[in-house]
Amino acid sequence: MVVVSGSNSGPMAEQLAEALGWTHHRIETRRFPDTEGYIRIPTDALEAIRNEPVVVVSNTFPDSGIVETLLMLDAVQDLRNGDLQNLREIGPQTLPGVGKGVILAVPYFGYSRQDKRFKPGESVSARAIAEMLTSRCDGLVVLDLHAPAVLEHLTVPVAFTSAMPELAEHLKESVDPDFILSPDKGAIDRASSVAQQIGCEFSYLEKTRIDAHTIVHKAKDLDVAGKSVAIVDDMIATGGTICRAAEALRSQGAVQVHAACCHGLFTGGAIARLLRYVDGVHATGSLANARDVISGGPALARGVRDVLAQLDV
Ligand code: R5P
Repeated sequence: MVVVSGSNSGPMAEQLAEALGWTHHRIETRRFPDTEGYIRIPTDALEAIRNEPVVVVSNTFPDSGIVETLLMLDAVQDLRNGDLQNLREIGPQTLPGVGKGVILAVPYFGYSRQDKRFKPGESVSARAIAEMLTSRCDGLVVLDLHAPAVLEHLTVPVAFTSAMPELAEHLKESVDPDFILSPDKGAIDRASSVAQQIGCEFSYLEKTRIDAHTIVHKAKDLDVAGKSVAIVDDMIATGGTICRAAEALRSQGAVQVHAACCHGLFTGGAIARLLRYVDGVHATGSLANARDVISGGPALARGVRDVLAQLDV
């Protein structure tokens, strides 16, 4: 079976291929002078993609990732449907279709945070993108999706997988925290699963976001004096959420504070800002980032196995 990737998820695709024991092929990607994208499945991958189930690993972030994902799925589907027609008449022009077996694995699902319509006339962006992409694949795997409910009604099997087991393993080995903190209610499930796996204490904060750069936490007594604490979230963007949570922890006597997440967006100098408040920052490579220390491959592999079992291919 094969794993393919384009320009934005090569290392994650390698990790997935390694976890599954499959072969990884890079899809050729380049840009035209006007910035539009071009993709082509390399000749040495054509046969494998027709003969075996294939996992396309690609992020829907930044925006160009959405287009690239769509183009890769389209090319893979044409190939599997036996539509090989090309103007240079290279190779067979048509072949029999080979049926289902195309899975899209998305390490970081861009637009996941616009998962509701807050005001009339807004797009439910997460749903719109998922529906477009799943019209060209047979199953979807998404890693640590911000709020899975928005993708629960798609017409193909979906696996919501999580790198929290690997994140817990990494924190236990590198930090050995006494206490795990969820910086808001939305991260409680993820962070508490990490605390449970490590076997340490857990609590959470209640957060209000005033705007993209302003976060306020409700005051809460946390039993962290003299303790080493790791704050666990699904993603870190500006770092504001973590910095404010770290301040609350330090003011209550925490001696070490670490931040760990699946998706390290780290926008606008976030890492430098974070390092003024925490002793370490830990992330997966779902997005290329300087703090990629946790493998996302095993989590994606669990999701792929789950979807394959549902597809029965
Ligand atoms: C929001 O609920 C998410 O789980 C993260 O807490 C948030 O996106 C982090 O953003 P920032 O780093 O900009 O505070």
